[in-house]
Amino acid sequence: MKILVTGGAGFIGSNFVYLLLEERPDWKVVCVDALTYAANIHTLNDALKNPNFTFYKEDIRNREGIFEIFEKEHPDVVVNFAAESHVDRSIENPGIFLETNILGTQVMMDACRKYGIERFHQVGTDEVYGDLPLDRPDLFFHEDTPIHTSSPYSTSKASADLLALAYHRTYGLPVTISRCSNNYGPYQFPEKLIPLMINNASQDKKLPVYGEGLNVRDWLYVKDHCYGILAVLEKGKVGEVYNLGGHNEKANIEIVKIILEELGKPESLITYVADRKGHDQRYAIDPSKANKELGWGPTTMFKDGIKLTIDWYKNHMDWMNECTSGEYQNYYKEMYKDRV
Ligand code: NAD
Ligand code: DAU
Repeated sequence: MKILVTGGAGFIGSNFVYLLLEERPDWKVVCVDALTYAANIHTLNDALKNPNFTFYKEDIRNREGIFEIFEKEHPDVVVNFAAESHVDRSIENPGIFLETNILGTQVMMDACRKYGIERFHQVGTDEVYGDLPLDRPDLFFHEDTPIHTSSPYSTSKASADLLALAYHRTYGLPVTISRCSNNYGPYQFPEKLIPLMINNASQDKKLPVYGEGLNVRDWLYVKDHCYGILAVLEKGKVGEVYNLGGHNEKANIEIVKIILEELGKPESLITYVADRKGHDQRYAIDPSKANKELGWGPTTMFKDGIKLTIDWYKNHMDWMNECTSGEYQNYYKEMYKDRV
């Protein structure tokens, strides 16, 4: 089995690469990543030492380059993680989100059509369902919840999902889609809530909580997400969508306080700042289809996963410093200057 993973130098993609190398030692893993700001090649240091692993620096928007890789590697399965993934950046600069997330996905699927494939798996997000009100804890996202996006990011991801389903219906491409809730764990770029707050708190910097910090996200440990994708590849039905999540809803302010407590830092570091435009209130996945049909469910409890995560960042401050040197400093100044 040869599996091609796009975006494997990013957060979830790299965790998936390591899971495959560990759990499927007879598989060949080919990683394609453009190494944007969100990637860190050092994340893949251990993978690069593994003879079952091959890396290509390539942009999924580059049709010629992607086709050349397919011609050389002839993968059996493709898992498409590569994307622009940060909502705040999509609000500032939507264009690149449409290009990478929609047109890049099209290039990957065209390569699959041309060279033949057993499965194209699109890594999707629960954000395609929009949001749920805070005062209706009885409501959840199901696979047939209408698509109703809020940000340019979620709109680009919804478009990619729809395109993948169209390629399945029109061309018979063997497509599956998973839609996951918020992930946390090692190797997440510190523009996202949890690593950003860990990084700031470690340096006694202010922790910028949007609005009142009451927005709710449904957190899943990244390794559980990766096992979910593997389950879809091995047991899922072509043409189907699977929601992945673990019924672990937390308000942002709860998360920030847990991080401060774990790091032994004072709550006075919290600073409430201007809200995100169009900020989704609550995400909550109903994962019962994946539970029933794939036998998949999360195994890491949040109280354990968050400790593992905080410890990982504490022990990998060199990795964090690589991410936050250079361009990140300008990003942080620009993104947060009007908020405080
Ligand atoms: P990330 O931003 O950490 O990583 C994205 C990776 O894709 C990076 O390595 C980057 O270099 C690469 N990339 C970006 N543009 C590219 C291009 N044009 N060509 C090739 N490579 C490119 O993202 P992530 O958080 O790991 O998310 C991975 C996927 O999972 C995305 O599709 C995202 O929408 C989805 N997802 C993320 C979450 C989450 O909580 N992080 C939850 C559900 C779904
Ligand atoms: O639900 C899945 C999605 O989760 C993925 O599709 C996205 O790729 C991923 O980035 C994530 O989106 P969110 O917007 O939920 O994640 P983020 O970490 O950016 O923000 C989480 C919450 O924390 C959100 O309510 C905004 C808030 N926040 C975020 C940052 C960066 C703050 O209050 N302060 C901050 O500085």
